[in-house]
Amino acid sequence: MAPVTDHCSFSSFSKCLTRHLNLSLQADFSSRVLRGRVALTVEVLEDKFSSLTLDTKDLKIFKVSANGQAAKFELGAQHGFKGSPLEITLPFELSRGQHVIVEVEYETSPSASALQWLSPAQTAGKKHPYLFSQCQATHCRTMVPCQDTPSVKHTYYAQVSVPKELIAVMSAVRDGQEADPTDSSRVIYRFRQPVPMPSYLIALVVGALESREIGPRSRVWSEKEHVDQGAFEFTETETMLKTAESLAGPYVWGQYDLLVLPPSFPYGGMENPCLTFVTPTLLAGDRSLSNVIAHEISHSWTGNLVTNKTWEHFWLNEGHTVYLERMIGRAMEGEQFRQFKAIGGLKELQEAVHQFGANNAATNLVVNLEGVNPDECFSCVPYEKGFALLYHLEELMGGPEVFMGFVKSYIQMFAYSSVTTEQWKDYLFTYFKDKVDILNKVDWNGWMYTPGMPPFKPQYDTTLADACNALAQRWTKAKDADLSGFSEADIKQLSSHQLIEFLALLLLQDPLPTSHVKRMQEVYKFNSINNSEIRCRWLRLCVKSEWEDAVPLALKMATEQGRMKFTRPLFRDVYNFAKFRDEAVKVFKEHRNEMHSVTAMLVAKDLKVDQSTGL
Ligand code: BES
Ligand code: ZN
Repeated sequence: MAPVTDHCSFSSFSKCLTRHLNLSLQADFSSRVLRGRVALTVEVLEDKFSSLTLDTKDLKIFKVSANGQAAKFELGAQHGFKGSPLEITLPFELSRGQHVIVEVEYETSPSASALQWLSPAQTAGKKHPYLFSQCQATHCRTMVPCQDTPSVKHTYYAQVSVPKELIAVMSAVRDGQEADPTDSSRVIYRFRQPVPMPSYLIALVVGALESREIGPRSRVWSEKEHVDQGAFEFTETETMLKTAESLAGPYVWGQYDLLVLPPSFPYGGMENPCLTFVTPTLLAGDRSLSNVIAHEISHSWTGNLVTNKTWEHFWLNEGHTVYLERMIGRAMEGEQFRQFKAIGGLKELQEAVHQFGANNAATNLVVNLEGVNPDECFSCVPYEKGFALLYHLEELMGGPEVFMGFVKSYIQMFAYSSVTTEQWKDYLFTYFKDKVDILNKVDWNGWMYTPGMPPFKPQYDTTLADACNALAQRWTKAKDADLSGFSEADIKQLSSHQLIEFLALLLLQDPLPTSHVKRMQEVYKFNSINNSEIRCRWLRLCVKSEWEDAVPLALKMATEQGRMKFTRPLFRDVYNFAKFRDEAVKVFKEHRNEMHSVTAMLVAKDLKVDQSTGL
């Protein structure tokens, strides 16, 4: 097989592979650092092996040893988002097939991009500090020196010492706790992850956590203020897990817990093994945002078992996961619901292509990340172009059952390994060897390596979307004199999913006149809806229509929670409302220090706030 280059990693994974990682850390809330050591069990792939390179970023390295003997090391210059290569020279030579234990003593930086340290004031309970990590895609190296590439998989064991009023949880099986023998004010929590996984799935939370059982293999974790809400919102977890198993094969990770994070968590969900992280903006009170759970559950197969070899093949993770997520939706709500969600996804793809520009290479399914920070080109493209391709293939190959057969077989074939788009495609052709003629007619280059909308537009069943389209049309066509014709009854029959779709349709159009959104508030009372997906789209619509009253509400939502899917467009839309451009920048600067560092970095770019003189 051709050697793979990972443009996002310095680690020498063609020479050696990490097989196991043993972490021993102390969380120091007063200086906001993690301190301790990692021991990497590394398998050698070449003869005359005597040096290796690890990824690090913003780490202080104190000491390196190999099999207990001191080793020379040097930290290279910092390369933007990639960090600094840690070059280690062993005091001996090894040959192919041998193993070496490389131990690094180190400390993280208070500004480590994987970690957010929250003050008590930033938590629900207001009494205790809180720490969470988010390693995907390239942030693990700010928390652990490692081969920070998804092409390498290893098991891990960890022990974390924390102040005894706090609890630590990780993306692994809990393995007990004990008083810290070196400090009576602290407790050590132990974890083991016996399934090999990539570094970006290492995750840690330390806080005043509680938990409640929600299923035979599931608990909800959060500060006590949200445990009951979480338990209610996520009751379908076991049903979804069983559905996913019937589609994709056995769940191999043992436990499937959920952890509801503080509001600054930058994503909707993160598929950390054994412990999915979710944003509190999923707590809608009616379970209507549970597709995010179906999505993160699906990653237990696509992403965590079969992993993209590099971030250029990220669509393999996300496209298949959206496909599985919607298959779970299909099993639980029916085919029409899946079709409806696919329509919504295609609309999001359109918005992204419009945002980037149809010639922007960031809208390719397979991207080129040479010199590109994956956080900066993150979008719904790998999700929705990926889904659209898989759905197109599903239709060509004979329908959902037939294509799910392929997806399941692909998972079995590549479980515990990392794959490229070419490997995926080769396997597709092998699996459907009787239908190669049809596969050969697919415009592969158009789908994978060409920007803009896909070369083929799937036709979805519009049964559930029709009502959304009709109502959106009425609003777009209405003259001021027609506004009295709208009433609360218009939306009586619409589900929250349909309201989201209705607003998404209007967001794709030219802005409505201010009079229209004011009337919409009068009749539909959207301002009092707290469902985050509805609220964000509604406030964006109002701001785009230049309704001044909506600006403070939009900025409030943009800062009270930090999910990038909401915070970035809300800030951007206020910024694009000329009269409030300075206000958007001012509010951002006021909140910047309490924001997650990745969110702050991206909002600063969106608002063209100079990184160096930003304060
Ligand atoms: N793995 C992603 C989140 C992610 C991607 C974090 C890239 C960092 C870098 C997660 O599974 C995800 O896709 N979350 C979505 C859920 C949605 C598609 C249902 C989100 O955060 O909104
Ligand atoms: Zn995902």
